[in-house]
Amino acid sequence: MRVLAVNSSPRGKNGNTEQLLQAFLRGAQSAGAEAEVVYLKDKKINHCLGCYTCWFKTPGTCVHQDDMPELLEKRRRSDILVYATPLYVYTVSGMMRDFMDRALPLAMPHIVKYGNRYGHPRRYAEDDKVTRVVLVSNCGFPDRQYFSGMLETFRILCSSPFNQLSGAILCSGGALLGIPQARPHIQWYLDACESAGREVVESGLISPSTNAVLEKDIADIESYVKQANEQFDRVLGLSRPV
Ligand SMILES: Cc1cc2nc3c(=O)[nH]c(=O)nc-3n(C[C@H](O)[C@H](O)[C@H](O)COP(=O)(O)O)c2cc1C
Repeated sequence: MRVLAVNSSPRGKNGNTEQLLQAFLRGAQSAGAEAEVVYLKDKKINHCLGCYTCWFKTPGTCVHQDDMPELLEKRRRSDILVYATPLYVYTVSGMMRDFMDRALPLAMPHIVKYGNRYGHPRRYAEDDKVTRVVLVSNCGFPDRQYFSGMLETFRILCSSPFNQLSGAILCSGGALLGIPQARPHIQWYLDACESAGREVVESGLISPSTNAVLEKDIADIESYVKQANEQFDRVLGLSRPV
């Protein structure tokens, strides 16, 4: 089983999202999957122009000449697609948004009813398989309510017969992921990410027991906020804390 993970943090391998992603991939690999990570910050991906050339003038081919065709090929070959993004303004980061928009050439323009929703069929018949989709994200605020809009986007995206939302790892208080001294206190969360990776490969879904762990806050909310604000005051040299 092939896993394609797309990391859209501008901080790439040094980011907090990467910590969750690597734990997930360790689990997936331990269950026998092959995994590849694409760092969007290292790729040239232009914005979609909304010209629909890829639908009507040169079907399947975008007007832009950039790195996206290579990524679409990787995406078509994957069985599990991991969207790994920091939460930016309550949704995916801009680079992820461009990656998602630029998948338009893989769809046909027709509007088809799947269950109780409409969607676009896939362009290539050989792509008519179920891709397991996993969302991996973290945010700077201390609680998980801010992920709700992004999660809903992925629920709708995966309501077609071609995409199954296998699970979501949504970690609030994400600043802790990048602090080495915090590691012993949050290892339990990374262990759950690893279990999630194994489970998605083995059964297609993150299990309810692993989900129950992933839905916990990684730190006490009030102490996280207090420590973060004290740190900001130190860095800014503020004599009168906000
Ligand atoms: C432009 C920008 C927008 C952000 N928006 C949010 C947000 O809406 N909610 C939140 O809790 N954190 C927000 N953050 C904080 C990031 O989600 C957080 O720093 C995260 O750990 C970054 O992950 P990374 O290191 O993988 O890039 C934002 C950060 C930036 C730079």
